[in-house]
Amino acid sequence: MADYRFPGEWIKDDMVLQENITSEIISRLESFDMIQGDVLVATYPKTGTTWLQELVWLVCNNGDTNKSRSVNLNARIPYLECNIGGESGLEILQRKSPPHLMMTHLRSDTFRTQIEAGKVNIIIGIRNPKDTLVSFYHFYRMNRNLGNFKGSWDDFFELHKTKHILCGDYFQWYSSWLQYKDKPNVLLVKYEDMHSRMPDIIKDVSNFLGKDLPQNIIDDIVRHLSFDNMSTNNMVNRSIMTTFDNKISPFLRKGKIGDWNNYFSKEQSDIIDKSYKTIIEPLGVTLSFE
Ligand code: A3P
Repeated sequence: MADYRFPGEWIKDDMVLQENITSEIISRLESFDMIQGDVLVATYPKTGTTWLQELVWLVCNNGDTNKSRSVNLNARIPYLECNIGGESGLEILQRKSPPHLMMTHLRSDTFRTQIEAGKVNIIIGIRNPKDTLVSFYHFYRMNRNLGNFKGSWDDFFELHKTKHILCGDYFQWYSSWLQYKDKPNVLLVKYEDMHSRMPDIIKDVSNFLGKDLPQNIIDDIVRHLSFDNMSTNNMVNRSIMTTFDNKISPFLRKGKIGDWNNYFSKEQSDIIDKSYKTIIEPLGVTLSFE
């Protein structure tokens, strides 16, 4: 199974991509002019991207939960490189007036010029690698674009070990982004902190983006972002994605910390611990696993 290939996949710089992410879009992104006030959410898949996108959008829109229940998240914060319904996120974005809110799963290389120019605000989302991989395994099972993966958890773990996984290796991905984490225009948000101290994270994001939200709006946002609320909000729960089979596994699946304990063998856990200790911790980042 480690040789599993989904239909239409291609590889860019060691990174496995879907055919709806074309090299042409990536080249256009390399030269896309990001301006002061733009916000780029950068995450590895399954690290709580949707949760963070919804938070960022609400902070930037004064906690407008009515709109976030009536307009699809992808229209509010386009997924830059992905072509959904015949149009890339970049094209959706270009129809909107600035400042732009956008999301990417690409590594930082594509955005080097914009990051170094220091104008765009970048919010990097991260989740511990073990829960990320378990969530990714279920995403492979339910996503028809990934060929309805029928392998076991062990098979999926091998795919990641050989780096043959959508968006490439978790550790390589985060090495590419975390090198920028101390720049003034970059904020790092941990999935596990969103669980344990959401009001503080909303304030951190607000301060980072120069917004001053009253306490009642922060309280509304906290309520809106609960797992139960988001699971039933069709504008964020991806239930309208025809390529996802939510009966196999819902997109908002469990939303927990520590589910990896139900999947990882001791040997698999040791492999991830070793990479975490040699790659993530030396970059000055510690993550919670329980
Ligand atoms: P699980 O599969 O572990 O449940 P992404 O948006 O990057 O694809 O990440 C999806 C993961 O984030 C899923 O993890 C999903 O349940 C979790 N998630 C999304 N919204 C959440 C919320 N409001 N609270 C907790 N977890 C959430």
